[in-house]
Amino acid sequence: MHLSELPDQLIDDAFGVEPLPDSVHRLRKLFAGEEWALADAIGIVRLDAPLTARVLQVANAPAFVGRAEIRTLQQAVGRLGARTVLAIALSAAVRGALEAAAPGYGYGPGDLWKRSVSSALAAEALAKKMATASPDEAFTASLLQDIGAVLVSRHLEPSLLGLLEIARCQARETPLAAERELLELDHGEVGRLVAQAWGLPEGLCEAIAHHHDPEAARPGAQDLARLVWASDRLADALEAAPEDADAMLGPVAERLGLEREQVATLVARVAEQRDALLAA
Ligand SMILES: [Fe+2]
Repeated sequence: MHLSELPDQLIDDAFGVEPLPDSVHRLRKLFAGEEWALADAIGIVRLDAPLTARVLQVANAPAFVGRAEIRTLQQAVGRLGARTVLAIALSAAVRGALEAAAPGYGYGPGDLWKRSVSSALAAEALAKKMATASPDEAFTASLLQDIGAVLVSRHLEPSLLGLLEIARCQARETPLAAERELLELDHGEVGRLVAQAWGLPEGLCEAIAHHHDPEAARPGAQDLARLVWASDRLADALEAAPEDADAMLGPVAERLGLEREQVATLVARVAEQRDALLAA
């Protein structure tokens, strides 16, 4: 493929992604309303058999060992909380795409999936703590922030992926600048196109587009973009050795106006939640 055809190919691919399951859209719509009942969430989940199985699996994950075995959907949703069920539904829908390797970005098979779950849980926890954005939107935007990188990796020839990798490792220029030079688009913009194709709200699409430069997002989406940016840094800290991780929390706490200890506590809780979700 000629390099000049790449932007069009990427845009076509982004808009041609498989639609999200109906259950994800219905749960999102339910939770966007002021009032909703647990029974309504259960009613949506029970119509999606793979989702029902996964919810039961997560409710019985090793993180809950020692508690009574969960046998019914009602018990599972009661234990996990309805919003966790939305997180499970969305995660199951995009897991296949995020489990792929993204070689230009240094991700082997499964790496990006694990990292995306960490950052999504961190974004959700930060949104709850700071109340600057909806926890559901923070989870979704953060989980999907690098979906554009998967598409870019899928389209680039190995030699061009090598150039991206070199730019990333040597930090001669930011990976985003290297992407724009090669593709006329960066992975945030490609991710925005995917989110638009899925009919996700405009603010969420904007936060995905600007997750590396939140101040460039339009004013109404900057808070959400900032949470996604911060969750990306916290996912780095979760993957780092303990002695390095500690030093990575300070700048994030400062940017968000939180105490470093508050962020450290939040990261420890996210690590437990992530292990529960990944183990199921
Ligand atoms: Fe990114």
